[in-house]
Amino acid sequence: MRKIYIFDTTLRDGEQSPGVNLNMQEKLEIALQLERLGVDRIEAGFPAASPGDLAGVNAVARAIKNASVIGLARSREQDIDAVVEALKGAQDPCLHLFLATSPIHRKYKLKMEKQQVLETAEKAIRYAKKYFDKVEFSPEDAGRTELDFLCEVTAMAIRAGATVVNIPDTVGYLNPSEFGNIFKVLKENVVGIEKIQLSAHCHDDLGMATANALAAVLNGADQIEGTINGIGERAGNTSLEEVAMALETRQDFFGAKTSLVLGEIARTSRLVSKLTGMVVPGNKAIVGANAFAHESGIHQDGMLKEKTTYEIMSPEMIGLKESTLVLGKHSGRHAFREKLIDLGYELSDEQVNIAFGKFKDVADKKKDVTDEDIRALIEEKLIET
Ligand code: KIV
Ligand code: ZN
Repeated sequence: MRKIYIFDTTLRDGEQSPGVNLNMQEKLEIALQLERLGVDRIEAGFPAASPGDLAGVNAVARAIKNASVIGLARSREQDIDAVVEALKGAQDPCLHLFLATSPIHRKYKLKMEKQQVLETAEKAIRYAKKYFDKVEFSPEDAGRTELDFLCEVTAMAIRAGATVVNIPDTVGYLNPSEFGNIFKVLKENVVGIEKIQLSAHCHDDLGMATANALAAVLNGADQIEGTINGIGERAGNTSLEEVAMALETRQDFFGAKTSLVLGEIARTSRLVSKLTGMVVPGNKAIVGANAFAHESGIHQDGMLKEKTTYEIMSPEMIGLKESTLVLGKHSGRHAFREKLIDLGYELSDEQVNIAFGKFKDVADKKKDVTDEDIRALIEEKLIET
């Protein structure tokens, strides 16, 4: 089965989420959990951004033994020097360089012609290679870059010594068919492409980050970049837990797998949410509180008969104890009876029927009916009879 490398950027792009600021201890705690989760690569920060970030990256670099640790740099010598400093003591260091390539960025941000972009990036990659065996190069805003220029940039990066070329859809603009096609075109047209790994880095502005990353896998990407819980700039990045579970659940379709320890997903998600302060929405795929919760009577009845009727993966796979059957106004008699048994009540069919009627009255007034509500309803009923 083809292995897809997982490049986690929770501590860099994830930390760029508005309002998030992790101190050194928090970065370290998350990095150690990412190591337990089994990610291949950890982008620990952007050392040139601040002395605090440099120190945070260095703490991660020294602590992590089973993943490559990466520092981000613009295509400038001072930034590269900061990463050299930050990655001292790393077991498996890697530098991540970027320079924008799209017409919009060239014109308004960089004020550079294509040739200057090529020369600046090449000079930076060659400088970085003096210090690092592993250099990843990202043509920022690749998603809005002319395809023939992107091929030229990729060929230049390979000649200059990049070991990974990462394709960022920086502003989350592309759809899966367009994003997948970039990988197909690069694979078919760039000389030397087989010497490097191709990587996908997607943003979720139009809600397509995971779909785009998976389209890249289908078209030959070797690495997916993303964050835990999908946190990141604006609408966030590809959710790594979504990619890992999509590949796992649909091996028949993708024929590719990550080496993540899936049973660590829930714990990692909770830790990242706690330390970043970014609450995971209830309906978030894989790690939302409702991802394995069932409310309607028809679904609950199906779940009680056979779980695969309404679950395509089990909560145990990601390290959760079990699915939950939430009692609410859509719930049916089957789940209600099971709940009574769980709570230790042995009632006759007639008693269950009466209690179920009362439960529906309560459920009409409340969103979730708790165990306490059920106990109160049964005790009241038993006192009445
Ligand atoms: O989204 C982006 O373009 C980035 C680059 C630095 C890779 O995060
Ligand atoms: Zn990004």
